[in-house]
Amino acid sequence: MTQREKQLVRTSFQEICEVAIPVARLFYGRLLDLEPSLRPMFREDFQKQSAKLMDMLTAVVDNIEDLEKLNPVLREMGLRHAGYGVLPRHYVLVEKALLWALAHALESGFHAEVRAAWHGVLARVSAAMLAGVADRDMV
Ligand code: HEM
Repeated sequence: MTQREKQLVRTSFQEICEVAIPVARLFYGRLLDLEPSLRPMFREDFQKQSAKLMDMLTAVVDNIEDLEKLNPVLREMGLRHAGYGVLPRHYVLVEKALLWALAHALESGFHAEVRAAWHGVLARVSAAMLAGVADRDMV
């Protein structure tokens, strides 16, 4: 990612920080619209789950200069997700739903360049999570 993309992710995330929980709600609503069959996978209440998701995204944004550092944590998280029944194809849906929720929260601030920057970050997070699962499957 370029410095400009990293900066766009940081500043746009700062803007949504205050409304992080409503954004997470938008995200889950959209995710379940896209794939209603995922509903039973979520057992925790959405308030708690939303806070965890937003904490994780905060960690990603805080470490954007050196995302490699988060690889061990993301790999472990990917393994836990496989345990929840998450499949590789679900990551695309999560990326779509998150981009959609960010677009709603940021409105005109979510222009093409910001969208591309977020797409880049989410693709890296998903790839790191899925790498954990791929490693396990090779053993
Ligand atoms: C960008 C990728 C993702 C991030 C950053 C993320 C983040 C998180 C976090 C932080 C948790 C808390 C528990 C834990 O750490 O294991 C969690 C749980 C969970 N995530 Fe994700 N997740 C991602 C992708 C996905 C995908 C693709 C799905 C599939 C639909 C999914 C479904 C779930 C489920 C079912 C739980 C457990 C909820 C519960 O126990 O109620 N996540 N996620």
